[in-house]
Amino acid sequence: MTNEPDIALEEIFSEKQIETRIQELVNEIVSRFHGQELTVAGLLKGSFVFLADMIRHFHRRDLRVLVDFMTVSSYGTETESSGKITLTRDLTMDIAGKHVLLVDDILDTGRTMELTVRHLSGYKPASIATCVLLDKPSRRAVPFKADFTGFEIPDQFVVGYGLDYAHRYREFPNICKIVFTNRTHEKKMVSGND
Ligand code: PRP
Repeated sequence: MTNEPDIALEEIFSEKQIETRIQELVNEIVSRFHGQELTVAGLLKGSFVFLADMIRHFHRRDLRVLVDFMTVSSYGTETESSGKITLTRDLTMDIAGKHVLLVDDILDTGRTMELTVRHLSGYKPASIATCVLLDKPSRRAVPFKADFTGFEIPDQFVVGYGLDYAHRYREFPNICKIVFTNRTHEKKMVSGND
């Protein structure tokens, strides 16, 4: 599955498991927002696959949505996250008075979501709910709990379904963990997915 000599990929969630879980999440979200219009705000890049699948399920369930994206970046060296988060692309839509669903692929230290919710609150939306496909609770550096979570996972580096390793593997329809076959390489990696 990979041409890189130092890593192997092991599936942790199949395409079918992801699809089933997304339908369950969509049921929960539709129950909460039934009859309202939902502004779905995706955090780039990782959320784009998850968000694309979810909004088509929303359509099938007659939930009206508006879609926008934003980008938040963390700075640091290649192998060490500094913990400093900066908003590099804001929403283009006015969310004042809107019900917002903030969507991301993975919740790790929680810094990205915490900062983004705080930022969006300043625009005075009617409500902000958060939805993540994956959650690594053991990695949390700031207190944060998503309103809707797909799967909780241990502290392992995961790729596929929008998640990358050095910009690769986002196109995989399933989610895999990276198994480092060269321990020197593993030590160089930051622990989390950020
Ligand atoms: C990843 C992920 C989340 C963030 C979570 O983004 O997509 O947005 O890190 O980390 P945190 O909870 O520790 O803040 P990344 O910076 O890898 O960018 P990407 O979405 O473009 O892959």
